[in-house]
Amino acid sequence: MTSRNLPEADDAALAGTVNLADIETLGRSRLDRNALEYISSGANDEVTLHANREAFRRARLRPRVLVDVSDVSTRTTVLGVDLDLPVGIAPSAFHGLAHPSAELGTAGAAHAEGSLFALSTFSNTSIEDVARVVPGRFWFQLYVYRDREVSAALVRRAEAAGARALVVTVDAPYVGRREPNERHRFGLPPHLGVPNAASREALAALESSSGSQLVNYFQGLVDRRFTWRDVAWLRELTTLPIVLKGVLTAEDALLAVEHGCHVWVSNHGGRQLDTAVSALEALPEVADAVAGRAEVYLDGGVTRGTDVVKAVALGARCVFLGRAAQWGLAAAGEAGVRRTLALLRDELTLALALCGHPDVTRLPRDLVRL
Ligand code: FNR
Ligand code: LAC
Repeated sequence: MTSRNLPEADDAALAGTVNLADIETLGRSRLDRNALEYISSGANDEVTLHANREAFRRARLRPRVLVDVSDVSTRTTVLGVDLDLPVGIAPSAFHGLAHPSAELGTAGAAHAEGSLFALSTFSNTSIEDVARVVPGRFWFQLYVYRDREVSAALVRRAEAAGARALVVTVDAPYVGRREPNERHRFGLPPHLGVPNAASREALAALESSSGSQLVNYFQGLVDRRFTWRDVAWLRELTTLPIVLKGVLTAEDALLAVEHGCHVWVSNHGGRQLDTAVSALEALPEVADAVAGRAEVYLDGGVTRGTDVVKAVALGARCVFLGRAAQWGLAAAGEAGVRRTLALLRDELTLALALCGHPDVTRLPRDLVRL
């Protein structure tokens, strides 16, 4: 019944992993402090970082029995793209910190496993190079720059390269304070470029003598005056679907729908506003407000097949992996991310069968007790 078609792992350590926690342990062991602290940290006391996982652990399933579950389907569609499982890769910056293959490894794995890759503005690989690995099957995440022409040019490049949606991250007018990154002055190693965002020289000019370089970088580039009015400007600029990433309330979900956007429930993996509500807890009010008029997605703390079941039952069309994909990449490049996705698909298949709901697109909300 479960697929059990995990890709061959050349790497003996990877082959020995049986869940995403094992892959995380392996991935962590292969990183230096700079990369490890950048990927793992949350803001301040990391309350929200942990709340994301806790909410999934706390939510309980109400399984049905005596249902024919000989045939289980994890397939879905997201904004017209067919997926083998309702799990994508969230946009995260600087995959070159995790592995030399950088975004080509992550994107290649997403493509091979029938998942969806979302490329960050702050990638170490250009939009065009990623597009070659995932033709017509990727989303582009935009941080809106103060210089609107630079932003517009990025949107045009993403469109021309075949992006299927524009993800606009709305929870980061400032970078959250990740204290380990301040303490040890997180910085991008000199061999890594940021080809979509700015030249290495521009980056260097923004570096200051203290604190996280990312904070200094953001300060110089990202537009803090961006509001709903400017979402209308973006809506005019592109025919691509727009997904607003970082919505946590019904109020903002309603505004998103009014502005013709889809809604990505996220607290940025607990890296922005600490003590913000967990993603899973925010999902029901957002799904109610949207009421089927737009697609809803979620990220934050997804590491188990049952997490996917819970988020989808509560109204997410698909979920995204942030750190889990980075641990896979660090563990073994593309093969590590493939194993991450394949293990999750197997867990999801088994969970659906044991819930008595064999089709992931038809999960009732009362499957979950929050
Ligand atoms: C992120 N995230 C992020 N989001 C975004 O819109 N643009 C970005 O460039 C980044 N960069 C980034 C780097 C790293 C190292 C992490 C861990 C995260 C947030 C990301 O898309 C997602 O919201 C969270 O990672 C989801 O939480 P989990 O899955 O990490 O718990
Ligand atoms: C981060 C930014 C880049 O979370 O989104 O590090």
